[in-house]
Amino acid sequence: MTDLNPQAKQMADESMVRNLDAQARAIWPQERPLVERYVLPAEPRILDAGCGTGEASSRLAELLPRATILGVDILDQSLDLARSRYAHLAPRLQFEKQSIYELHAPDGAYDLTLCRHVLHSIPHAERVIAELARVTRPGGHLHLIPEDYGMLHFQRAVHDPSDFWHEVPAAFGTATETDLFIGRDAFGILAAMKMDEIRVDYVIVDTVRVPRDTFASILEAWRDGYSESIGQFTKFSRESAVAHFNQMIANIRDPLGYAVWMVPVVSCRIPSR
Ligand SMILES: C[S@@+](CC[C@H](N)C(=O)[O-])C[C@H]1O[C@@H](n2cnc3c(N)ncnc32)[C@H](O)[C@@H]1O
Repeated sequence: MTDLNPQAKQMADESMVRNLDAQARAIWPQERPLVERYVLPAEPRILDAGCGTGEASSRLAELLPRATILGVDILDQSLDLARSRYAHLAPRLQFEKQSIYELHAPDGAYDLTLCRHVLHSIPHAERVIAELARVTRPGGHLHLIPEDYGMLHFQRAVHDPSDFWHEVPAAFGTATETDLFIGRDAFGILAAMKMDEIRVDYVIVDTVRVPRDTFASILEAWRDGYSESIGQFTKFSRESAVAHFNQMIANIRDPLGYAVWMVPVVSCRIPSR
């Protein structure tokens, strides 16, 4: 039977808390203007689906002081951390345990629904996208960050990082019944659902736009959280995965080095019926 949460172990690891913090610091400065394009009511209702430790939910609560925001996740420890970190933003910002496969909200409850860094890690992503669309009102917006592990580029040295990123996401996806290239597939899923105003934008996490230390922290967290399962699921051993990540981290930290992660931000409007 398909495991609906195949990355449960990695999501609960302390490295994921570091990862989500570094990802938000790297991505939000470019993502924020994309969010600001949505035409929202004066007191918008917002859902952050798979909110993790509340990095985006809290930034939205600060950006939109009259918004009501609900972050939902299935991981208690992330929800607890989010509640304690952002207690000062309650009750406008709340966190609840809910599965994004079966949200509690009635149809059309939200003006804006976000789902960041989740869809690549779960099977049946199209079912989740349909559920997110269900709880978003006609004329409201979906804002997705569907990761795509074919959109990372590093310089070669002893290892060729292209070999790693060619093999690892494909084998990991096969083993976990997930699509680690869903960034490029999200457009078609939304188009088949007949969504309006589908947009594909990119946040460019590179060594020019993002502080090297922030970018390197993401790779360090991936190394610490994922090398063991890469050793299980792919042709790379755990030791080889660590060596590849260490080379990529050195590439990022090298003042003469250049590396880039292109992060798709895919959005649409729910059609008015
Ligand atoms: C990589 S984290 C992203 C967190 C957050 N969206 C962010 O951008 O910082 C993915 C999150 O999805 C959550 N998740 C996985 N399956 C879920 C499900 N069925 N329902 C709700 N959350 C889920 C995980 O527990 C994890 O916290």
